[in-house]
Amino acid sequence: MPWVPLDVVNDINKNVGRRWQSIDSLLPEPGDLPQGCMAPLVANDQNGRPAGLGVCQHQHVPDDALAQTWGTAVRFMLTLRLRGSGPQAADQLLTQWRDHLAGLAETAAEDTSAIVSWPTRDVDGVLPLLRHGLQPMAVIAGRPKGRPTPEGIGTAPDLAIRQAGLDDLDIVTELEMGVIRYDAHFGGSIPRPATEALVRADARGGLGYVPPWIWVAERQRQPVGLAIVEPPEDAAWIAGMARPGSTAYLQTMFVQPGERGGGIGAALVKHVHDELDARGVEVTLLHYAQVNPLSGPFWNRMGYRPLWTSWEARPAAALR
Ligand SMILES: CC(C)(COP(=O)(O)OP(=O)(O)OC[C@H]1O[C@@H](n2cnc3c(N)ncnc32)[C@H](O)[C@@H]1OP(=O)(O)O)[C@@H](O)C(=O)NCCC(=O)NCCS
Repeated sequence: MPWVPLDVVNDINKNVGRRWQSIDSLLPEPGDLPQGCMAPLVANDQNGRPAGLGVCQHQHVPDDALAQTWGTAVRFMLTLRLRGSGPQAADQLLTQWRDHLAGLAETAAEDTSAIVSWPTRDVDGVLPLLRHGLQPMAVIAGRPKGRPTPEGIGTAPDLAIRQAGLDDLDIVTELEMGVIRYDAHFGGSIPRPATEALVRADARGGLGYVPPWIWVAERQRQPVGLAIVEPPEDAAWIAGMARPGSTAYLQTMFVQPGERGGGIGAALVKHVHDELDARGVEVTLLHYAQVNPLSGPFWNRMGYRPLWTSWEARPAAALR
């Protein structure tokens, strides 16, 4: 398969950038195409002109990485760049990608997925993704700095919110495991034998920060809620999904099941937002599972809007 001339890549990227900016100013400029497992897939229009590009990457997430709890162990990811908004180019590229994956024996294994990240508001892409057997799984949502919290939100009686410290390691681990168990209902997380130990090690690292970016909500001195944020220096892995600027990642948000629906989550998030705004964070990103019935509406009310949807076929060979 031939490599694509740079002027073709630049031309398509220019069109993609224009479209992304017209649908959401929080989206980034499209970056360079990533290095793929082979030359980019190319879709052509009726005149034989390149109308879209697709780059396939293979990722093997090791057992000792917490990332393996947040998805399958083997991931085949397609970066799609389309010149226009019609479905033809997306269909051509997804068909070529399906044929490529069908030739790889490991795509039939249970713990694999084929993944496409697509701007949530770019609705013209939805039908081709569905047609090829992909399902909307995770959403990346974003909140620009200073976005006001609606009136009346952010108060809960008898609630104390404080920064967590190293003494909180057990409770932070327990509440974080609560999120993982809850998200497992939607396939958002896949609890692994190593998950709890990895969560604990990760929490220990985060609790050592000065100041910490972890907050605990307590009622009558009992921990009832947890928020964990990755500061901008640790959030580079996801910062490129939004426009440039100091970007933090809200990694964990959890309220104990018996305490939900009474304003604790909103109070905790408001507290965290005030801190993030004061610390100069310009964009906060987070993930939620598309079908989590609690998180989407909650995050929307807290000032977040969906930016990217991750579409998946599991196992990867289920792509059609
Ligand atoms: C998402 C979560 C953190 C929200 O915490 P919470 O304490 O229930 O949040 P709140 O009580 O502030 O708000 C929840 C809902 O209750 C409503 N509510 C708030 N105060 C209320 C009150 N006093 N009485 C009745 N309802 C109330 C809110 O309107 C809100 O509705 P919305 O979700 O449609 O916006 C919590 O449900 C949770 O831990 N879920 C499981 C883990 C999870 O999904 N985490 C997020 C992963 S991305």
